[in-house]
Amino acid sequence: MQLLLTNIKQLVTVGSGGHAFKAGRSMRDLGVIENASVLIEDGFIRWIGTAGDFSNTLDADADTLDCSPYIALPGFVDSHTHAVFAGSREQEFALRAEGKTYQEIAALGGGILSTVQSTRAASKKELKKSASRRLDAMMKHGTTTVEIKSGYGVSEEAEIRMLEAITELAQEHYMTIRSTFLGAHAIPPEFQDRRGDYISLLCDRMIPHIAKRKLAQFCDVFCETGYFTLPESRQILEEAQKHGLALKLHADEFTSLGGTELAAAMQAISVDHLEHISDEAIGALAKSSTIAVVLPGVSFFLRNPYAPARKLIDAGVPVAIASDFNPGSCMSFSMPLMMTIACTQMSLTPEEAITAATLNGAAALGLSDQYGSIETGKRADIILFDVPNYRYLLYHFGTNHAAKIIKHGIILEFS
Ligand code: NIG
Ligand code: FE
Repeated sequence: MQLLLTNIKQLVTVGSGGHAFKAGRSMRDLGVIENASVLIEDGFIRWIGTAGDFSNTLDADADTLDCSPYIALPGFVDSHTHAVFAGSREQEFALRAEGKTYQEIAALGGGILSTVQSTRAASKKELKKSASRRLDAMMKHGTTTVEIKSGYGVSEEAEIRMLEAITELAQEHYMTIRSTFLGAHAIPPEFQDRRGDYISLLCDRMIPHIAKRKLAQFCDVFCETGYFTLPESRQILEEAQKHGLALKLHADEFTSLGGTELAAAMQAISVDHLEHISDEAIGALAKSSTIAVVLPGVSFFLRNPYAPARKLIDAGVPVAIASDFNPGSCMSFSMPLMMTIACTQMSLTPEEAITAATLNGAAALGLSDQYGSIETGKRADIILFDVPNYRYLLYHFGTNHAAKIIKHGIILEFS
């Protein structure tokens, strides 16, 4: 089946010529083609050029779409979310407006453990239903690939229920989904006085079981004061690595414990948050192949400092932007909003923000050979936006400019 997109005002390819990610100055090269055409065949991009160049013969049943009102970007890759959960925490949002911090609210019984309570009480069917609606809404905003973490079960049974929900959604939903085991998100209430037993449960039972059933591709740990220490994080990640899981890490969000250095040394695929990253850790990242995933929505929502993304890019570290969508620290999955915040608060250029939300996001999931840019041979995940040019997309924020969502070559219709 063929689909020809013609007269695209601006085609933002983010082409990397086979490189897995872009770093440094090359994050500004978007490979923009004016008045472009794209030929899609069986869900893959077959040909890209300017309108006048098209000389292929189309099949008799080929579809053509006149894109003259639109610009086109690769579908966004949101490489860090907690999109499966039950309940909501708007009372914490109100408390923060009165000056309470995320950690103070957690100490008062809110935070991750409050979502653990509601998620434990939800059936797999309920978790899938609410997450599926969120995935639809994410796609309407231009996200076509997403990572989802467990971590609101923190018991063997509830973590597996979450991962089964994510795995089934990956098979049933149009969204491309990758799954991360985050059993080490918080010490469960029933293990408060025997945290060593919980680490053993994670390492001796949960990781082997999850790896064997292929319920996750990645393992992550919340390495943070009050959550998991650096030695505990290392122990859990080593066990995961032994079982073939790729590594991610929540590091340097509130305090700097050495998590970023650990992630770089263990060749983690990404290290995420980095609001309090040290200069030494930036140096360690620059020497590694680990992607730095920054989460502008979290700092915005929690009134925390922003990760030094400008400094990271200038040091040559490949930076990705993700939403961290979750009920506590960022209740938004809008990637255009994350990019706008990255420009206004972290001093990224619009070009860098777009690369960070597409190609580099795909690299943080090990998927940039298929997703994250519009290049021949890659999957046809293309968003058509009703704006005059790509900078306008980030400049006019707080509204959804996506006009058409093309996933694996199919123009999606939402009910
Ligand atoms: O990535 N930092 C740890 N975990 C989430 C927050 C989860 C929550 O508050 O429910 C995050 O910010
Ligand atoms: Fe997170």
